[in-house]
Amino acid sequence: MSLSSDHQHPSWRPPESPSRIGITLETYILEGMLGFPAATGAFTSLLNQLVLTAKLVTSKVRRAGLANVLGYTGQTNVQGESVQKLDEVANETLLSVLGRQGHCAAMVSEELGDMRVLSSDPRAKYLVVVDPLDGSSNIDVNISIGTIFGVLRKEESKAGAEPSDFLRPGRDLLAAGYVLYGSSTLLVITTGLGGVHGFTYDPTVGEFFLSHEDIRIPEHGATYSINEGHSARWPESVRRWNAWIKEDAKPEGRPYGARYVGSLVADAHRTLLKGGIFAYPADRSGQGKLRLLYEANPFAFIFEAAGGKASTGIERVLDLTPRSLHERVPLVLGSPRDVDDFEQFMRGER
Ligand code: AHG
Ligand code: MN
Ligand code: MN
Repeated sequence: MSLSSDHQHPSWRPPESPSRIGITLETYILEGMLGFPAATGAFTSLLNQLVLTAKLVTSKVRRAGLANVLGYTGQTNVQGESVQKLDEVANETLLSVLGRQGHCAAMVSEELGDMRVLSSDPRAKYLVVVDPLDGSSNIDVNISIGTIFGVLRKEESKAGAEPSDFLRPGRDLLAAGYVLYGSSTLLVITTGLGGVHGFTYDPTVGEFFLSHEDIRIPEHGATYSINEGHSARWPESVRRWNAWIKEDAKPEGRPYGARYVGSLVADAHRTLLKGGIFAYPADRSGQGKLRLLYEANPFAFIFEAAGGKASTGIERVLDLTPRSLHERVPLVLGSPRDVDDFEQFMRGER
């Protein structure tokens, strides 16, 4: 379904005066350019540890076909999904790097049934949630995959952490980001306050360089992203929205074009830059697929920091209080107007 030129909406463009383009991610963090007012050494060091894991994982991803990290381990994870070697490699990399410098008290990962304590030192004041390898079904067909992370602060300076420390609304996140292993490796990060920034990896230098400063999502877009193969189990309201978004209504900018990669990081990143909407709705049982702690919340935090919206279709994702570490939610991400349209269908107002 091609879009006529008048449907093309300007996607995000770098600021006219790209004054900071090209500086390294480490410099950007050190200068507190992520807008984090109290960028203490520990927080800066933790973010740089996450950058290191991105470098290590990207080198494994880029050689996956050669380094015998394709294929399955033969195990299944807590989600009941078969674990790919690269899922495990990415998870182990995060555990070993984040466990080194003592800033991260504990980690919750898609690949770990329970929370993993990484430091019992009371001075370890951060908690990390992570989807080590997102889009696993695309690993062995060489389609974009990613890593998703979020950073929370432990409530009080106590030794270790408990799972309940993680069961906080996403609005409490200190930072969130993702690494997209696509045509190039791009790390996008925000602390909420200082905007959303993208850094592209230069493997010849081994550094991430600022390439997308202050990403802002367009007010509305021209593409929608949803797995139409699941339409039989959607609620009727979602089916009506789906039919509406495809109507031939040029004056209102419809039909939207369909784009669906099947890796949340890829589909969300495209939506962030070009605008439009990504939806993984609940099935009739109300159950979503995507996990609240390490898929929905980090992206909701990023989208809102970039001027977008993130909803379950009914309510703001960042206001949800998780009931369990691997709780699943319906997820709608996108331009404000596009998410508002979707919610009106869900409320039966259209
Ligand atoms: P993961 O590989 O971490 O389990 O995540 C897969 C998720 C997400 O990346 C994507 O949006 C969704 O699964 C795709 O699900 P469908 O194949 O049902 O569309
Ligand atoms: Mn995932
Ligand atoms: Mn995953």
